[in-house]
Amino acid sequence: MTTAPRRYHVTTFGCQMNKADSERMAGILDDMGLQWEADPYQADVVLYNTCTIRDNAEQKVYSYLGRQAKRKQEKPDLTLIVAGCVAQQEGEALLRRVPELDLVMGPQHANRLQDLLEQVMDGNQVVATEPIHIMEDITKPRRDSQVTAWVNVIYGCNERCTYCVVPGVRGVEQSRTPEAIRAEMEALGQQGYKEITLLGQNIDAYGRDLPGVTAEGRRQNTLTDLLYYVHDVPGIERIRFATSHPRYFTERLIKACAELPKVCEHFHIPFQSGDNDVLKAMARGYTHEKYRRIIDTIREYMPDASISADAIVGFPGETEEQFQKTMQLTEDIGFDMLNTAAYSPRPNTPAAVWENQLSEEVKSDRLQRLNHLVNVKAAERSQRYRDRIEEVLVEDVNPKDPTQVMGRTRGNRLTFFAGDINQLKGQLVKVQITEIRAFSLTGEQLIPVVA
Ligand code: SAH
Ligand code: SF4
Ligand code: F3S
Repeated sequence: MTTAPRRYHVTTFGCQMNKADSERMAGILDDMGLQWEADPYQADVVLYNTCTIRDNAEQKVYSYLGRQAKRKQEKPDLTLIVAGCVAQQEGEALLRRVPELDLVMGPQHANRLQDLLEQVMDGNQVVATEPIHIMEDITKPRRDSQVTAWVNVIYGCNERCTYCVVPGVRGVEQSRTPEAIRAEMEALGQQGYKEITLLGQNIDAYGRDLPGVTAEGRRQNTLTDLLYYVHDVPGIERIRFATSHPRYFTERLIKACAELPKVCEHFHIPFQSGDNDVLKAMARGYTHEKYRRIIDTIREYMPDASISADAIVGFPGETEEQFQKTMQLTEDIGFDMLNTAAYSPRPNTPAAVWENQLSEEVKSDRLQRLNHLVNVKAAERSQRYRDRIEEVLVEDVNPKDPTQVMGRTRGNRLTFFAGDINQLKGQLVKVQITEIRAFSLTGEQLIPVVA
């Protein structure tokens, strides 16, 4: 007798690293012979890969879990897994809150999913949240895209920004070796991938935990060294990296980006606040002057570079005047994109217990004002694409118009144009830009003239 294979579903709540973890865990489930199921309410194994960066991200998880816990009462063979950052933060407490759970596993345990599931199959309720040395990934991720791929270069974070849960839930920095990173990229190039995004919460910390100094006494294995080491991987046409930290961002890195043709002219460098006292209270380790100098230097070497960032409004004690410094920086830099958030007090972070918390009204009012400015500035920045010819890497169909394909410019602007995805997927296409919006573009494919 043959039984139908069990079907699994993965929902991802968090950042790029969380997405990359999901792809690796889905790869493990594929390997174990399970089948992907798009509908979480039809699946036999449900894995929620969670995020706890702000309270609303965490609460979302509990509402999803509540529905699955109910479903399990009618379907006892349902396997319920909570992975990621809420799992790490809550650990055992999650089992008390949702007794229907089979497995609670922190982000460092992602590559161990098979082993942990085997313990569940033996009838155990399992919690895996102890800090471990992350095993080199030998599994094959189930990647969402066939064109672009994430490659982790450093896990964890050793910074201590006073608002942030990440160091607590992702643990200490662990860099992969340049050889392992290059090998993964070579395999991706062979499989036809065209674009790689190198990932780390603080990617400028890459290599701090690896041995080696140069003859001149400079630390080896920096992000800059890594870019030089991997840039010629065959098949890979574009390289990006995120997230950059202003404290460690170097001119040497900027030069490398300008010099290496595959490295795209797009930088994601969160500034969080435009006020030096707020930055100090956040323990960010730089001033707004230093941040401005970094952007100036980038623009000296690469005048057309796209700049994106993250910012927090309503940090404890932030005055209206200090908030205006964030508005001013946003005005002056002219970001291509800015992710904004109202400060959210998080468990086990210093700022959460300070007494100078601001009201929700003040925070949401500041958020609205900043968001308005972000839209205005992004629309202005988009104007530089007018009548330009841009190189677009085609990723997929436009979900809103199947006669169009979509992809990104080197500067990371989403771009749509008429075309057949079957012919164009994974191609680098020259596109004449015809329509401009704040965060996306429309154009026409330039047909190469054959002499
Ligand atoms: N490592 C990156 C950011 C990681 S978290 C860095 O150093 O910038 C992603 C973003 O979430 C942060 O840049 C910050 O803007 C936001 N964030 C983090 N903690 C937050 C909190 N407690 N409240 C509101 N936003 C927060
Ligand atoms: Fe969080 Fe700061 Fe680390 Fe970024 S650098 S992940 S904000 S602690
Ligand atoms: Fe969220 Fe964890 Fe990423 S808290 S932002 S999923 S590192």
